[in-house]
Amino acid sequence: MLDEDMKQVVRTQRLGYVASVCPDGTPNLSPKGTTTVWDDRHLVFLDLHSPRTTGNIEAGNLVVEINVVDPIRRKGYRFKGPAAVLRKGPLYEDVVRFYEERGTERGRIHAVVMVEVEQASPLVSPAYDDGSTEDAISLRSLNMYGLTRTSTADTGSGGEPPT
Ligand SMILES: Cc1cc2nc3c(=O)[nH]c(=O)nc-3n(C[C@H](O)[C@H](O)[C@H](O)COP(=O)(O)O)c2cc1C
Repeated sequence: MLDEDMKQVVRTQRLGYVASVCPDGTPNLSPKGTTTVWDDRHLVFLDLHSPRTTGNIEAGNLVVEINVVDPIRRKGYRFKGPAAVLRKGPLYEDVVRFYEERGTERGRIHAVVMVEVEQASPLVSPAYDDGSTEDAISLRSLNMYGLTRTSTADTGSGGEPPT
C-alpha cells in the first residue's frame, strides 16, 4: 500500500497534519511531528499532547486523514484509514521502544496511534501547473523562506530534530 516515495516523504518530513472527526461531526485537525512509517500499511504517531484526536478515535470515529507535505518541493501525500489508540500490549511496547531509540522519553507518551492506510494519493501544488520543474519550484520555495541548501541534511549541534 505505501510505496517507497510515500515512505521516504513521511520519514523525511515527520510532520503529519491529522484530521479526525468530533462526536458532533465537526473536523479536528492538528499537527503531529512524530508521524512516521510503521510498515507497508501503517503510519504511526504519538499522543504527547493530543487529547482530542485520541478522544475522537476512542469515541468511535476511527477514520483519520493525514496530510504530509514537503514544503520545499510543494508535494506530498494524503493518507486515510482507521486508527487505533494503543495504551498497552506488545505492539504498543514495540512502538514505544522505536521512539525511545529516537530520543523520546517513555514518560511523555500518553498513547500510540496506529493508522491503517486504506487510501493514499499524491498532493501536488498548483505551482506546477505552468510546467515548472521540481528544481525550479524548490528554489522558489527556498527563496521564499530565506533558506539555502547545505550539502548534507545535518541537524547541526542541536541533536535530534524537533517534534
Ligand atoms: C509542529 C508541531 C508538531 C507537533 N507534534 C505533536 C505530536 O507528534 N504529538 C502530539 O501529541 N502533539 C503534537 N503537537 C501538539 C498538538 O498538535 C497540539 O497539542 C494540538 O492542540 C493537539 O490537538 P488534538 O487534541 O486535537 O489532537 C505538535 C504541535 C506542533 C505545532
